[in-house]
Amino acid sequence: MGHMEGSQALVLFILCALLYHSVAADHTARYLSEAEEKELQTQLKSLNKPYDEYGITFDCVDIYKQPAFDHPLLKNHTLQIKSISFPKSMNKNPSSETVKLPRRCPRGTVLIRRTTREDLIREKQIQRTKRIDLQEDTVTVEAYTAGVSFSDLNESVKFYGISAILDVYQLSGVLDTQTSATQIVVNKGETGPLDYRNVVQAGFHVHHEAEGDNLTHFFTYWTTDGYQKTGCFNIHCAGFIQTSERTTPGLVYTLSNMVLSIFKDPKTSNWMLVNDKEWIGYWPKEIFNNLADSSQIQLSATASSPTDQPSPPTGNGELGGASFKNITVLNGELNPYPPYVQHAETFLDIGKPFYEAIYNVDSGLFYGGPGGWKPEPQNPPSSISHR
Ligand SMILES: *[C@@H]1O[C@H](CO)[C@@H](O)[C@H](O)[C@H]1NC(C)=O
Ligand SMILES: *[C@@H]1O[C@H](CO)[C@@H](O)[C@H](O)[C@H]1NC(C)=O
Ligand SMILES: *[C@@H]1O[C@H](CO)[C@@H](O)[C@H](O)[C@H]1NC(C)=O
Ligand SMILES: *[C@@H]1O[C@H](CO)[C@@H](O)[C@H](O)[C@H]1NC(C)=O
Repeated sequence: MGHMEGSQALVLFILCALLYHSVAADHTARYLSEAEEKELQTQLKSLNKPYDEYGITFDCVDIYKQPAFDHPLLKNHTLQIKSISFPKSMNKNPSSETVKLPRRCPRGTVLIRRTTREDLIREKQIQRTKRIDLQEDTVTVEAYTAGVSFSDLNESVKFYGISAILDVYQLSGVLDTQTSATQIVVNKGETGPLDYRNVVQAGFHVHHEAEGDNLTHFFTYWTTDGYQKTGCFNIHCAGFIQTSERTTPGLVYTLSNMVLSIFKDPKTSNWMLVNDKEWIGYWPKEIFNNLADSSQIQLSATASSPTDQPSPPTGNGELGGASFKNITVLNGELNPYPPYVQHAETFLDIGKPFYEAIYNVDSGLFYGGPGGWKPEPQNPPSSISHR
């Protein structure tokens, strides 16, 4: 953008203004002729040259033409352009680091990580790994999770949002066949039939199959059938709608902390994803079959590994060395619940000396560990999960 000619910028501005205007009036009716549309596309292409960072290509895509709208359930979806209500208790980023983010896309467009052929091939592999029990010739993959869970044991308590500050570490020693993730998971239907288990999650991970490298990436995930057939990481399938001009799932994340909040917008019922600076995007209500509210929220770290390799580290690789801080669970008005209704419970698939999870209302969740767990071959794991 820095080298953009003044006249070009003006043309873009007018086009964007036009687009905004017509779109605001009626999303379905565009007042652009075919020729104008073609010209707009040519303009966008030349102005929004794709750029590369860490070998990943990013594009600025017309907000109305992002891949999310290919989802059949989003045929009639009205794009939400503004996040109407933000929780009052939103966290601020505690660090004074200068945010080194990719450049900002022009108004009316959103930053999108370009999906490559290789991405889709690896995503298929993830799908295949999920159905691993059907594949006789595949090595079993086991996932170990540790964290804290807030549940609606008190029937009158439903969750509508969560906000926290996550420490972020650049983990080494995660093999290409393994994953290590730190995440916020918003669940509904976790005790009922899989076909109605709805989940949205976001955080950061080292995940070669999802991202194509061993760097730490900001990621999102969603599913509406308990990780069976629906959903995917980032925007590898249609569903998550991107609204930010400079932050997008799949981005390489190099800062030492991440402020994340996931909440249900009371006006639109879409599930919003925001950081401390901006609204990143949202999961539209149409894609869910059971997410009017959440019955369980987890803050956790998951390490997954083929069972013939020692499991990878989580957090910063030290026992309890990483944390989630300023954890706020939100009610329908997006106000924090008092701690006594949250039914916080820590869980730990595998404990010391491999992993740790300690939760305290005042100081937060401390988690992480060096890993190194390897199940005995004569005791094949009974459950397979993939997150
Ligand atoms: C979209 O709207 C049309 C007309 O109201 C309706 O027939 C169709 O079922 C809707 N599709 C979806 C996916 O909601
Ligand atoms: C986190 O919570 C503490 C204690 O309530 C507060 O003093 C601090 O300002 C909060 N930090 C951020 C970044 O919101
Ligand atoms: C359940 O939640 C309601 C509403 O927040 C609260 O008034 C009540 O004390 C809670 N009951 C228990 C047993 O925690
Ligand atoms: C990541 O992968 C590259 C290339 O495969 C390798 O050279 C490097 O050591 C790996 N880094 C970490 C932190 O695992």
